[in-house]
Amino acid sequence: MAFTFNVEENKDKINDLCNFIDEKKDIPGALMPVLQKAQTIFGYLPEEILDLIAKRMKIFPAKVFGVATFYSQFSFIPKGKYKVAVCMGTACYVKGAQEILDEFCNRIGIEVGGTSEDLKFSVVQTRCIGECNLAPVLTVNEDVYAYVKKSEVRRILRKYK
Ligand code: FES
Repeated sequence: MAFTFNVEENKDKINDLCNFIDEKKDIPGALMPVLQKAQTIFGYLPEEILDLIAKRMKIFPAKVFGVATFYSQFSFIPKGKYKVAVCMGTACYVKGAQEILDEFCNRIGIEVGGTSEDLKFSVVQTRCIGECNLAPVLTVNEDVYAYVKKSEVRRILRKYK
């Protein structure tokens, strides 16, 4: 699914990024910090921003895309307002984390790593978050849910609608 990036609504953020690029563009290896800054500002790397970076830094767009796609820290889709993170560490996995993860994805209508069209939810899987005694455990932004059952997924989602 393609998300639309609104240039007009993001004018101030684009200006911030342009100022940052102008400060850094002559420093060798500036592309990485510029991409990191762009992701911090926008929460992800829209195609329009990758094009802008290429133009302003006077480097080929293919190079910008190549570097951005090489590193997993960069995302090309926006994050949802609520980030559902299901722990898939061993303790959670053996207690049914996979079916909980699947239930979230099915109910929201996205795949793992995806964001809903209304930008409300993102779903990701995480490694052990150090709360194995609460398995299976998940978080929605700062909220932690312990001993989660598949049948509770609907109720959890309703809290954020
Ligand atoms: S395995 Fe899930 S919290 Fe440790």
